[in-house]
Amino acid sequence: MAGEQVCCRVTCTAPVNIAVIKYWGKRDNELILPINSSLSVTLNQDQLKTTTTAAISRDFKEDRLWLNGEEADITHPRLQNCLREMRRLARKRRSGSEGDTAPLNLTYKLHIASVNNFPTAAGLASSAAGYACLVYTLARLYGADGDLSEVARQGSGSACRSLSGGFVQWLMGERPDGKDSVAQQVMPETHWPQLRVLILVVSAEKKPVGSTAGMQTSVDTSPLLKHRAEAVVPERMAQMVRFIQQRDFEGFGQLTMQDSNQFHATCLDTFPPIFYLTDVSRRVIALAHRFNTHHGATKVAYTFDAGPNAVIFTLEDTVDEFVEVVKRSFPPESNGDQFLQGLPVGPAVLSEELQSAVVLEPVPGAIRYILHTQPGPGPQLLEDPSLHLLGPDGLPLRSASAAAPGEPR
Ligand code: DP6
Repeated sequence: MAGEQVCCRVTCTAPVNIAVIKYWGKRDNELILPINSSLSVTLNQDQLKTTTTAAISRDFKEDRLWLNGEEADITHPRLQNCLREMRRLARKRRSGSEGDTAPLNLTYKLHIASVNNFPTAAGLASSAAGYACLVYTLARLYGADGDLSEVARQGSGSACRSLSGGFVQWLMGERPDGKDSVAQQVMPETHWPQLRVLILVVSAEKKPVGSTAGMQTSVDTSPLLKHRAEAVVPERMAQMVRFIQQRDFEGFGQLTMQDSNQFHATCLDTFPPIFYLTDVSRRVIALAHRFNTHHGATKVAYTFDAGPNAVIFTLEDTVDEFVEVVKRSFPPESNGDQFLQGLPVGPAVLSEELQSAVVLEPVPGAIRYILHTQPGPGPQLLEDPSLHLLGPDGLPLRSASAAAPGEPR
């Protein structure tokens, strides 16, 4: 091979986010415009992240994509929309700034490799981090600016919220062209340093209905969803912003649980109904309420997306005790040593009263593992060239392959 074929490689990472006011339903399927605003917490990339390398070269014959080491279909319409929009943003910048000598030729073909540091099989939403990472990486590669959340939204609605760290709202907007349907940071990740997140990964038997298809059926059939979008969410958005600004865990936790429950109620109101919560999910819900009742305050708050895994919000001082309660309630079966992942968890001694009031009928093996994390920052550019997922020839390196099945790396 004569010299380096790739003229430019850029590698970035992006986070997962978890909504506390849920997005469910589109008013425009093509532009991905929602029927209500939503609000999420960006999770720390030390535990969960997508890494993407994008490369361009005059020698590439076609655009190509690798996901977790396997070549994937680049013709997917949502992906094509993002590529087109990013090239458009880059062109706009190029024509707007005269004398810009950027060497990147927008007609060159792209190679893209993307990898998650957590297994897709864990059922943790990966499309949000994936599209956010793609859009952010292309923006860095092309030197494009403008509102990236508008582009990421067209990959997957929730992806627009992964472009900022901390607490992020996606304003639904009103315009038919979607120009005002954008994500904004409400507060940075440093705002609430005591806040912690526990992801309880349950052992699911089957893959649930995907969110894109599920929310479409809900829009078509659920009167409750319409009521939620019009009459409930606007007030909840304002309340949630206030609770976050004031670091009011009681308010934040209660509203988080209520909004998750209403989202799952709209799923039951969908016809035919959609069930994302399983018996294990419902046991976690009951456990959280018993725990809070025992303490006489909201100490933990659950939320569930389009799947059975529970995401628990709590404060630093409650983590050890609640994790012990979860361990007693769902004793690990085989992987005892890998049951706790992510940030460290200390030992806890449960009082007799807590034990008898909260830990009822243990179900061994129902929870596969617990991932302990916290709020984190938005996408990052990686400066170290040894972290590229594509080699100088534009083909995936070994680092571009998937996380070991079952466990985050
Ligand atoms: C339940 O963003 O995955 O996680 O826009 O069709 O790609 P598409 O859907 P997606 O939906 C996420 C739904 C949710 C709630 C949320 O994240 O707000």
